[in-house]
Amino acid sequence: MQILDGKTLSKKIKQKISNDVQKLKQQNITPGLAVIIVGDDEASHIYVNMKEKACKESGIYSIVHKMPIDIDQEKIIETINMMNNNQNIDGILVQLPLPKHINTQKVLQSISPQKDVDGFHPFNVGKLVLDLDTFAPCTPLGVIRLLDEYKIDLKGLNVCIVGASNIVGKPMMNLLLNRFATVDICHIHTKDLKSHTKRADLLIVGVGKANLIDKDMVKDNAIVVDIGTNRLKSGKLVGDVKFDEVSKKCSFITPVPGGVGPMTIAMLLENTLKAAQQRINRC
Ligand code: GUN
Repeated sequence: MQILDGKTLSKKIKQKISNDVQKLKQQNITPGLAVIIVGDDEASHIYVNMKEKACKESGIYSIVHKMPIDIDQEKIIETINMMNNNQNIDGILVQLPLPKHINTQKVLQSISPQKDVDGFHPFNVGKLVLDLDTFAPCTPLGVIRLLDEYKIDLKGLNVCIVGASNIVGKPMMNLLLNRFATVDICHIHTKDLKSHTKRADLLIVGVGKANLIDKDMVKDNAIVVDIGTNRLKSGKLVGDVKFDEVSKKCSFITPVPGGVGPMTIAMLLENTLKAAQQRINRC
C-alpha cells in the first residue's frame, strides 16, 4: 500500500506557483484573490484563514470580506460587483455554505466567469462538461493532480464516487469522464451503497460522514481517495473512510489530514495565478 501524499505534492506545487508569481510581478502584475465569508461557522473561518495564509506565502495579494450572518443577499452581490470591477482582483471566492436566507446560485452567478477561481459559475460548469479550458473546482482538480503524480492511469478505470455535490462529486465525475474513466456516482438515495463501492478500482468518497466506508465495502487493491474531513468529539480529524482497516487492503490511499485537503488549497492558488496570467492577455 502506498500513501497518496498530498502534503508533499502541494508544497512542490506551491513552490512553483511562488516562482511564477515572482515572474508576473516583474511584469507589474500581482495576482489578487478576494474571499467573501458570511457568518461565523468555525470550519469555514478555518478554511478561509488557511487560504489567506497560503496566498501570503506564495506572494498572492488577498483580501477577505467578512460579513455578518444576517446580511442581505444584495449586499453580497454588491461586494462581488465591486470585486468584478476591481483591476487588482483576479479571483473571487465565496466560501460555502451560505446562510439559508441567501440564494447561493444567485450569488455565485454574479461572479464574473473570468474571476471564478472556484469554477462554480454555470458558464464554467458547462465548459468543464464540454472538456473546454476553464477553472475546474479546486478539490476535484486536486484529486486528479494527486493521481497524476503517482502515474495512475484513469483511462478505462471503474470509478465510484460517493457524494454528488456541486462542489465535489459532480465536477469530479466530469473531470474523470474527460479522462475516459467509467464513472458511477452515488448519493444519499443510492440503494445498496456497498454493491457500488465494492466494484470500484478507484473509490472517491466525499460526504462528510466519519467511518462511512469500512473494509468490506472496498475491493482488494483498490485506490481510495478520501475527501471527507470530520472533527470527532475527541478533537481528532478523520476522513469518511476507516483508514486503519481499509489501508490494509488497498493499493493507494489518501490520509486525512495530509491528502486531498492541502491539494485543494494548492489548486486555488493555481487557478488564481491562471486568472492573473489571463489578465495580461486581456490588457
Ligand atoms: N466550502 C467547502 N469547500 C469549498 C470550496 O472548495 N470552495 C468554496 N468556495 N467553499 C467551499
